[in-house]
Amino acid sequence: MTIRFRLDPEKPDERALAVAGRVLRSGRLVAFPTETVYGLGANALSAEAVARIFVAKGRPADNPLIVHVASVEDVRQVARMDHRAEALFRRFAPGPLTLVLPAREDVPENVRASLPTVAVRIPAHPVALGLLRHCGCPVAAPSANSSGRPSPTTAEAVADDLGNAPAVLLDGGSTALGVESTVVDAVSETLTLLRPGGLPLEELEAVAGKVLLPETAQLLAHSPGTRHRHYAPTLPLFLWEEDGRVWTEVAALAQPEEIGYVGLREPPFPCGAMRRFPHEDAYAAGLFATLRDLEKCNLRILVADMPSSFRIGRALRDRLRRAAQLS
Ligand code: TXA
Ligand code: MG
Repeated sequence: MTIRFRLDPEKPDERALAVAGRVLRSGRLVAFPTETVYGLGANALSAEAVARIFVAKGRPADNPLIVHVASVEDVRQVARMDHRAEALFRRFAPGPLTLVLPAREDVPENVRASLPTVAVRIPAHPVALGLLRHCGCPVAAPSANSSGRPSPTTAEAVADDLGNAPAVLLDGGSTALGVESTVVDAVSETLTLLRPGGLPLEELEAVAGKVLLPETAQLLAHSPGTRHRHYAPTLPLFLWEEDGRVWTEVAALAQPEEIGYVGLREPPFPCGAMRRFPHEDAYAAGLFATLRDLEKCNLRILVADMPSSFRIGRALRDRLRRAAQLS
């Protein structure tokens, strides 16, 4: 059985965090909210604990995990941090920035999929930070969904996907950003964007200068996880780019009442289920939960509005393309 604690996301109950911290330290799994999505955590220094994450999620072993720590100083528990990396964390942490850094040798191989590097981040959520302080160890945590499904932005989505796999589920309500952290390779001389995410590239570049956007082929070699199927809803998803061409295809495949729509713009004809957001930040925050919701609405096809390629729009476009199995 999973013990579920409902917590005030701003001021979580310390006793619940203490219990969850002990559970983590003892080698079992704890699901917790971050400012991006929910994570499924294990003691990052225990290979045995980390192995449970891969089983619970059905995650391929060649997809490495992000290690979460409570402070910039604690990054050194798992990675070697040069001046540049430290400056980036001092500017953006806690927050949705993950840096890939040279790993310390005692980081178990399954955390880093046998790479010499490790991904590290400091989450900006009182529950996540409180949990990290209580358990006193670095916490490896991928998104708390079944591998391949949309990431979980609510405790309900975690429970739907993972059942009783976490020993503790810390329920802090809906997560604020709704897309995962921005992952940046900080090992090579030039910073490289491995995954667009909650921290806009524009903000990073304003501080760090030009960040490389690798071609897809190079990216596969670099960030093993990007190779796998991701974020996929159970219904076929079509993308509405700037032009309206997709609607001709969609109209040929389904009746209006069989179509689910998510996005910003008003669709050209009525759909069976519609979720519209006032701006891109709200779209990002609501996308994954909406995909999960629409799956339950007796529809045949989903259509998603493609946002701009700026700021959070870049991450949204990436997730939508993957959800539509286009990359
Ligand atoms: O917002 C987030 O980042 C959430 C929350 C829970 O922190 N976590 C998350 O983890 O999205 P996950 O496992 O779903 O995604 C981790 C990403 C994958 O694309 C993986 O390939 C990449 O980080 N990654 C991890 N370690 C890496 C490494 N050593 N080198 C390159 N990429 C790495
Ligand atoms: Mg994930």
